[in-house]
Amino acid sequence: MKLIWRLWSLNKHNHWLFKLAVAILLMGLSFRLFFYQSTTFEPNFEHPFLDKTQVPKPPLSADIPKTPVAVDIPKPPVSVDVPEPEDEEAPKNELDAGKCDLSVGDWIPNPSGAIYTNASCPLIEGHQNCMRNGRPDSGYLFWRWKPRDCELPPFDAQRFLQLMRNKAWALIGDSISRNHVQSLLCMLSSVEQAVEVYHDKEYKSKRWHFPSYNFTISNIWSPFLVDAAIFEDNNGVSTAEVQLQLDKLDEKWTNLYQNIDYAIISTGKWFLKAAIYHENDTVVGCHICPGKNFTEKGFVFAYEKALHYAMDFIATSKHKGLIFFRTSTPDHFENGEWHNGGTCLKTTPAKEGEMELKDLNRILRDTELAEFEKASAKAADSGVNLKLLDFTNLLLSRPDGHPGPYRQFHPFAEDKNATVQNDCLHWCLPGPIDYWNDVIMEMIFNS
Ligand SMILES: *[C@@H]1O[C@H](CO)[C@@H](O)[C@H](O)[C@H]1NC(C)=O
Ligand SMILES: *[C@@H]1O[C@H](CO)[C@@H](O)[C@H](O)[C@H]1NC(C)=O
Ligand SMILES: *[C@@H]1O[C@H](CO)[C@@H](O)[C@H](O)[C@H]1NC(C)=O
Ligand SMILES: *[C@@H]1O[C@H](CO)[C@@H](O)[C@H](O)[C@H]1NC(C)=O
Ligand SMILES: *[C@@H]1O[C@H](CO)[C@@H](O)[C@H](O)[C@H]1NC(C)=O
Repeated sequence: MKLIWRLWSLNKHNHWLFKLAVAILLMGLSFRLFFYQSTTFEPNFEHPFLDKTQVPKPPLSADIPKTPVAVDIPKPPVSVDVPEPEDEEAPKNELDAGKCDLSVGDWIPNPSGAIYTNASCPLIEGHQNCMRNGRPDSGYLFWRWKPRDCELPPFDAQRFLQLMRNKAWALIGDSISRNHVQSLLCMLSSVEQAVEVYHDKEYKSKRWHFPSYNFTISNIWSPFLVDAAIFEDNNGVSTAEVQLQLDKLDEKWTNLYQNIDYAIISTGKWFLKAAIYHENDTVVGCHICPGKNFTEKGFVFAYEKALHYAMDFIATSKHKGLIFFRTSTPDHFENGEWHNGGTCLKTTPAKEGEMELKDLNRILRDTELAEFEKASAKAADSGVNLKLLDFTNLLLSRPDGHPGPYRQFHPFAEDKNATVQNDCLHWCLPGPIDYWNDVIMEMIFNS
C-alpha cells in the first residue's frame, strides 16, 4: 500500500491512465492503513501528579505555551488532473503552495529521521530537549509530513540560506514561536551555526545572525501582541491579573515591523488567563476577576479585539514583505490539563480521525480564522502580502510529539513513580514542528 502511494506520488506527472488506476485502487483502501505501526509503547509511569503551584486557570507559566497555529492560505484549486483522495472530515486548512493543499496529508514513515540532534544543535531549550532529557522512545522522530496531492520537498537549509541572503525574519508571539525559532535555527545549523547577537534582559526576545549570509532571525516575545502588564513570579504563577490594553499594540514588534522582510505572527493561550481589559485607557471588563466589580467579558471578547487591532495594523501597514499569521497550536493533554495532571502517553501519530480538536483550541482557532478573513480582504486592497499558516491538521495527529514528563532532565531517575509536570503543548526538538519549515519553505519559494 505504501509503495503504491509512493509510486503514485512519484509518477503523478506521468500519464493519466496510471494515475486513474492508482486512484481507483486508493479509493478502495483506507488512508489509515498508512499508519501501520500499531504497537504503542506505554511509558511506565503512574498517575500524573497535580501541580500544586498552579493557579486554577489557564496554563500557566510564563513560558507556557502558546499555541502556534497553522497557516490557512486561501488556496487555488488543485490541478484538475490529479485524482482527488476522498474527502476529509478534518478541518480544512489550506496551506496552499499554489499547486496543492499542503495542510491535507499524512504522516508517513521517514527512516532517515531528523536532520539534527540534541548533539548537533546547541540551541534546543532544556524543556524541549527530549533526547537529552531521557525520553526512552524515538519512534516519534521517524515520520514526515506528506501532503496528499503533491510532494513536499524536504527543507533545504543551504538553499534557504542562499535565498535569504541580506534578509531579516521575525517570529513574533509566545513560547510556541520560540519553539519554532529553535527548530528553524537547528535545521539551518547543518549549514551554518547562528550567532546570537541580541537578547533582552529576561532572555525572552533574541536575535541571531548567520554571518556568511547576512541573514537575521529575531524571536520577539509578545504573547498577547498587544500591550500587557504581566505579574508572574519565577515559577510562572500569576500574582495578579494581567492588565491588557486591547487597542495598543506591543511596540516590541511594531517598532521592528517595517525592518523585516518576513514575519510569522501568532498568539493564543495567554488570552485564557485572568486579566483586566482596557480600551482607550478605560477598563472595559475583565476575565476571571471575582471581587473586582468589573464586568466578566470572557476571553473571546479580548481575543477578537486584540487580533483585530493587530491584523488591522498589518493589513494597513504598506509592508512590502511577506507576513504570515499563524493559528495557535493544539495541545494533547489527556485526563487533565497542564495544571492538573494531564498527560500525553502516545508514542505514534494518531490515526486519521482519532484526535479531535478540543473545544478551547477550536474556539481560539475559529476566532483567529474569522479575524484573519476580515483582515485579508483589507490587506489585499492595500497590497500587503498577508498569508495564513494553519498547522492544525498537521499537528492534531501528533500527540506523540510532546515532551510529556521529559520536559525535565531524566524525571524518573531517582523515583520511577515520581510525579512530574507534563508538557503536552510544546514540541520536542527535533520533532513534528520541524516540518513547519518544509511547508513554509515550499510556500515561499514554490508558490
Ligand atoms: C543527547 O542525548 C543523548 C541521549 O539521547 C545523550 O546521551 C547525550 O549526552 C545528549 N547530548 C547532548 C549534547 O545533550
Ligand atoms: C545585511 O542585511 C541588512 C538587511 O537585513 C542590510 O541592511 C545590510 O546592508 C546588509 N549588510 C551587508 C554587509 O550587506
Ligand atoms: C477615548 O477617551 C477619551 C477621553 O477619555 C474620549 O474623549 C474619546 O472620545 C475616547 N475615544 C473613543 C474612541 O472612545
Ligand atoms: C461597582 O461598580 C458600580 C458601577 O460602576 C458602582 O456603582 C458600585 O458602587 C461599585 N461597587 C463597589 C463595591 O465598588
Ligand atoms: C511504584 O509504584 C508501584 C505500583 O504503583 C509499586 O509497586 C512500587 O513499589 C513503587 N516504586 C517505588 C520506588 O516507589
